[in-house]
Amino acid sequence: SAVDHTAPAGMNFDPVSPNTEDALVIPGGYQQKTVIRWGDPVIPGAPEFDFANQTPEAQAKQFGYNNDFAGLIPVDGVPNHHYLVCNQEYTTEEFMFTGYQPKEPTEQQALISMAAHGITVVEVAATPGTGALTPVVGQRNRRITASTPIHLTGPAAGSEFVRTTADPAGTTVLGTIANCSGGLTPWGTMLSGEENYNNYFGNASAVTDTATKDRLDRYSFADDADYHQWGRFDQRFDLATEPNEANRFGYVVEVDPHDPSSIPVKHSALGRLKHESATIHVVSSGPDTGTVVAYSGDDERFEYIYKFVSSRRMKTGLSSTARTHNLGILDEGTLYVASFTGNEPDAIDGSGKLPPSGSFAGRGEWHPLLTVDADGTARSHVDGMSPAEVAVFTRVAADKAGATKMDRPEDIEPHPRTGKVYCALTNNDKRGTDGKAAADSANPRNENKNGQIIEITDNHTGTDFTWDLLLVCGDPAEADTYYGGFDKAKVSPISCPDNVAFDPHGNLWISTDGNALDSNDGLFAVALDGAHRGETKQFLTVPMGAETCGPIIDRDRVMVCVQHPGELDDHSADNPASHWPDGGTSQPRPAVVAVWRESGSPIGV
Ligand code: FEO
Ligand code: CA
Ligand code: CA
Ligand code: CA
Repeated sequence: SAVDHTAPAGMNFDPVSPNTEDALVIPGGYQQKTVIRWGDPVIPGAPEFDFANQTPEAQAKQFGYNNDFAGLIPVDGVPNHHYLVCNQEYTTEEFMFTGYQPKEPTEQQALISMAAHGITVVEVAATPGTGALTPVVGQRNRRITASTPIHLTGPAAGSEFVRTTADPAGTTVLGTIANCSGGLTPWGTMLSGEENYNNYFGNASAVTDTATKDRLDRYSFADDADYHQWGRFDQRFDLATEPNEANRFGYVVEVDPHDPSSIPVKHSALGRLKHESATIHVVSSGPDTGTVVAYSGDDERFEYIYKFVSSRRMKTGLSSTARTHNLGILDEGTLYVASFTGNEPDAIDGSGKLPPSGSFAGRGEWHPLLTVDADGTARSHVDGMSPAEVAVFTRVAADKAGATKMDRPEDIEPHPRTGKVYCALTNNDKRGTDGKAAADSANPRNENKNGQIIEITDNHTGTDFTWDLLLVCGDPAEADTYYGGFDKAKVSPISCPDNVAFDPHGNLWISTDGNALDSNDGLFAVALDGAHRGETKQFLTVPMGAETCGPIIDRDRVMVCVQHPGELDDHSADNPASHWPDGGTSQPRPAVVAVWRESGSPIGV
């Protein structure tokens, strides 16, 4: 393959071919360097990583495991220095501990696992002349783990559903876990979505109260979902003892990196789901100028897409007055859930046959679920549910509102220029099986293995939108795929889209998780406009068994989080499929990597 110099600016690179290498593979003419790995020191006094002698105390001062979202936020007044904000979604204990027996942690291992979760803020310094970033182990850094105090705000706070033995007021949660994708706000903070927290709670089958049981079921709590078994050593993760602890996870967490002593916030006005993320659009003209719209997906099969529209307007600038004001934006406004209707519903016959090109489109509606007023008063828009019930059991409210069941909504993000909103619907192998919802216009394939990208043209502060499918992913040689109308003979194959981002030229970038085309996951650039719409080019691939996360696409640097390198479906513990990044016979280590162009020119121009 060769550089397509007719591609839009930002996409002129030699695409990386599908492969199964144990390496991060980048285009010719580019360089790469690891920024930070699992176990690298973050907090002053942290010891160097020592795989054989890891402790909870060391881990709490080091970079956590399985980095997912990453963002760079400038450090005020320090040129070329940024806060790298990065969440650590989960732990792969089989790769962290020699001889680990699945679901059988020792107490020490469980405590290390808890300390390896959460969020890291680490100052990084740019090296002039390259894209490399070097961590600065200093006072600006912080680790937020499964034990860090976090304020719960909004209608859930203080409600009967979140009070526990340790926190009878129901306002201070210890820790954030299962953080998947995220976003940055224009007011200088990081948002992170709590996703698969059901994997941390045990004894679901011992819960006898019917209402509690139904709610746990709706969020997929089950004995066999408890991979981490923390409840053996900390009773708040034992559902039989503390059933309400489970209701304290599943929120969007906001972290202000500018103040290392600030207490992070869980915003329950955005609802409790398996939040993949929250990403921000700010209305920039007209009577709603300054209104903030936060988009979020609920990543599980047949779950929904949500948005929150603020009533508080954003103050511009980074003064402390503006910051304090803006930190309350996600506590005042209305939460909605989406339904999708196809323009040609008859084109879908449930057989997996796609409608003709160009007809993957339709209209949609946002259904209000919950409004929180400036004084904190909350109103439910769902019959029979209180505001606190809607905030905590948001999925139940969305069911009643008639939302459309989607193919696992992962990252969703508004385009910084056009405002169009792009959501990765990663896959859904249960679509159309076992009496489950069959294919529809927005989710057009049964047993969907490869996923699709939906493009939403939203009336941001209103309740109506139109939509279109940009990509129906999979092998371009197969008839059931669609690449925005572009010539499918000229695209890089993409499967299982997960994270979305934009480059400064306006192209969409997509990272993948679970590539069903027998090659490693990777990062792709996709053209959105004109004759090139749908042109898809692979920029990099990650090592075997890893998923590609994070992505940050700046003018001169691309960054990715390499999550769970070596983790194949069977978690083959004794023989990890990867020794990246340290090589030899070393344990694989999740890490953040920077890629830049040798010539010093911008990416892909
Ligand atoms: Fe953690 Fe939805 O991916
Ligand atoms: Ca994800
Ligand atoms: Ca994103
Ligand atoms: Ca995923």
